[in-house]
Amino acid sequence: MKENIGIGLAGFGTVGAGVFDVLQHQRDLLAERSGFQFEVRSIVVRDLKKVRDVAAPSELFTTSWRNLLKDPEIKIVVELLGGTTDAFEFIKAAIESGRIVVTGNKALLAEHGEEIFALAKKHDVPIFYEAAVAGGIPIIQSVRDAFVGNRIESIHGILNGTSNYILSHMQEAGPDYRAALAEATELGYAEADPTLDLNGGDVAHKAIILAALAYGFWVKPEAVRVHGIQEVTATDVFFARDFGYVIKLLATIRAAADHSIEVTVAPTLVSKNSVLASVNGAFNAIAVKGDLVGEALFYGKGAGRKPTASSVVGDLVEAAFALESPARHVGFSSHSLYGASKAPQDVHACYYLRVAVDDQPGVLAKIATIFGEAGIGIASVIQPKAKDKNKTDLVFMTHEAAYGKMSNALEKIKNLSCVKSTPVLFNVESV
Ligand code: HSE
Repeated sequence: MKENIGIGLAGFGTVGAGVFDVLQHQRDLLAERSGFQFEVRSIVVRDLKKVRDVAAPSELFTTSWRNLLKDPEIKIVVELLGGTTDAFEFIKAAIESGRIVVTGNKALLAEHGEEIFALAKKHDVPIFYEAAVAGGIPIIQSVRDAFVGNRIESIHGILNGTSNYILSHMQEAGPDYRAALAEATELGYAEADPTLDLNGGDVAHKAIILAALAYGFWVKPEAVRVHGIQEVTATDVFFARDFGYVIKLLATIRAAADHSIEVTVAPTLVSKNSVLASVNGAFNAIAVKGDLVGEALFYGKGAGRKPTASSVVGDLVEAAFALESPARHVGFSSHSLYGASKAPQDVHACYYLRVAVDDQPGVLAKIATIFGEAGIGIASVIQPKAKDKNKTDLVFMTHEAAYGKMSNALEKIKNLSCVKSTPVLFNVESV
């Protein structure tokens, strides 16, 4: 006899409809493998008239999550509304009503995780959120549970499928950024508004969640330096290749020697021989370094209907088990083993800097002087052959320096009369 579990689904977009579809099509498999049968009793949508690519009985749809919470047979709610306002109200009300919550809302957790988990603890209601980071890859459970005995030294992640799809496309086929974005949108990887995919915001949300799991506290969004892929040009992809690197939008999460926590999201040059360099298309990858496990690498689809639904459905089964016997934790355990987060200005990195300049004697010396005065060491410099005989790019690779020092130097370089456009600065990481 399989147990019937009533669930309420808030959101019927790419992922929500995918979850509904999986619950119908994999019904028997899920019942056999988990012992549960899930019954979707209510679906919250914004627009009842919208044409949908997954069919569901019309009587299930409602525009108000309050209606969903009125049904006592709904024991688990799945929040896939997105956004941080309505979804926040819904999750708080669901917890207060004793419902177990499954969510994929990374923005909400990154911005309000502390409050949400405090409320969850107060009401002893677990929250499951495997779909919030890296789509189908089980990275939440791995960092939180499987690696609980480790001191996590660092996490490096390619965490946004859309931007990785675009960067890979630029790497392989040239600079047609728009076409690549259109394809990523068509394939269901991009957000409804892809701004956060491109400007690094989506990666920052995911990085904050991973940092919380690894280090036991919620890094404030303003403590994360975030740069997106908008500044990456075909020229940079080409020069990086010349140096033996590939450009990736990388989240770098690390415990510094003084136990402060650094979280950076930036276009980053990784060696073409590193595993992360070969992560292409909409794939995500996360490299976790722990003192016991050593290096562990996770790779898989970080976006799209089925991979993300896979994580939500996995969470649903965990949630159903938690109805029967209390969950081990509410989904996040805070602790104070680590200090505060490090201010972005104090985070050290090596850099790639491209400066478009007048091709005249003394220009290189002026820039080198600024670096010298700032105490930033140059590891290598190239002046690629230029098309224009009066202008050229200078490309520097630097030794490690604090970002604050680097941005001050950059400001001075920008103000030199020989510099023709805003210099481009990316990180360089050995992973
Ligand atoms: N839009 C995200 C991406 C998927 O492109 O990776 C959901 O987090």
